[in-house]
Amino acid sequence: MIQVGIVGSGFAARLHLDAYRFVPGVSFRVASICSKDATLPEFAREYEIERVYTEYEEMLRDAQIDVVDIITPPRLHSAMILQALAAGKHVICEKPLTGFCKPAFDEQGNPVSRSDMLAQVNADLDAMEQAMHASGKRIMYAENAVYASAVQKQAEFLRARKSRVLLITGEQAHNGSQAAHAALWRENGGGALIRQGCHPLSAALYLKRVEGEARGEIIRPVAIMADVGVLARPLESAEHVYIESNPVDVEDWATICVEFSDGSRAQIWAGDMALGGVRNRMELFTGDGYYALNMAPNNMMDVYHPDERALQDVYITEKVSNRAGWQHVLLEEAILRGYVGELTDFLRCARDDYSAPQADFTLARDCVQLIYAGYVAAERGVRVLL
Ligand SMILES: NC(=O)c1ccc[n+]([C@@H]2O[C@H](COP(=O)([O-])OP(=O)(O)OC[C@H]3O[C@@H](n4cnc5c(N)ncnc54)[C@H](O)[C@@H]3O)[C@@H](O)[C@H]2O)c1
Repeated sequence: MIQVGIVGSGFAARLHLDAYRFVPGVSFRVASICSKDATLPEFAREYEIERVYTEYEEMLRDAQIDVVDIITPPRLHSAMILQALAAGKHVICEKPLTGFCKPAFDEQGNPVSRSDMLAQVNADLDAMEQAMHASGKRIMYAENAVYASAVQKQAEFLRARKSRVLLITGEQAHNGSQAAHAALWRENGGGALIRQGCHPLSAALYLKRVEGEARGEIIRPVAIMADVGVLARPLESAEHVYIESNPVDVEDWATICVEFSDGSRAQIWAGDMALGGVRNRMELFTGDGYYALNMAPNNMMDVYHPDERALQDVYITEKVSNRAGWQHVLLEEAILRGYVGELTDFLRCARDDYSAPQADFTLARDCVQLIYAGYVAAERGVRVLL
């Protein structure tokens, strides 16, 4: 039986733990958890996790753990991945795999150049890749968007018809986060682009890979254009009511256009300034079809209430600011948003030891490199070749 050790007991740890309950066909157990939260004992009891640690190194010494699932802030990812590989564990790591998680301004108050950031991130990724090969273990990229039901269905269409994908559009946006860490470059390695844009970007890269495999071609990203900004900045405090983000040194909006070696494009935008709940959509324009992936909002269940009475504990969807009026209820999120699919794929890979997950290290690396190449493009106002 595969034993999993979780690192982190925050927001996204719940997404994983709720999804582990639905993973079919693999014999496994979430046996350990490690976190710095004072609420860790109750959290472990709630999810019936036996072994509880406050020190990561101690959990890694547990020889029974086969897979470490890292669900901590991005600034900790790369060091934790290297430690887990050195301890002989397979690694699952939340998005983004890594980033430049340091202040965006130097001690003199000058902005850190985005090409220096890209260079540091590349060095980080190289170290991880070498460690992964040396260990014989896997780095599995917990990017749920790749496994979202609509993206997996899209992959099935591409495999069946061997279509040529001309253009992918993708967006991930909401009204931002009040959390102090979301406002700081040093915590996340950037703003809306890395926190939210990584989801549709990863899905687009995955679908271009599926297209290439179906057609017997290798299709790679070759260039990127980008723009970033703080669009909510002009709001006066009396107007800054519904948008929750308050960026310190990060962007609240970003757009990128990725060019692939076959001449196709992926246009992605991400934002922390969009009202109306989470927006998570993609479109594909192929030589022989059109596809609209309406992941959120969608019309699977529409409800109407004239007021919010007694609805405070009824979950509707992420990031809606009230519950009255017409609402689009997001059902079966653990499955539709891909959390069950990703963990099923990863546990099968850990069990079989040799197979590669669909969201593998290469996909994670491409995504992070494109994001920082995008920051370079936005800083210089030029198209950056990869
Ligand atoms: N895929 C998604 O839908 C999704 C959604 C939200 C967040 N995320 C990602 O999940 C990761 C975590 O985000 P979050 O929102 O859960 O953050 P969080 O702040 O809610 O939780 C972070 C957890 O990490 C723990 N932690 C911090 N330092 C630690 C250490 N040294 N050792 C052990 N544990 C430590 C904290 O105790 C906390 O439990 C991030 O990479 C984020 O990008 C993904």
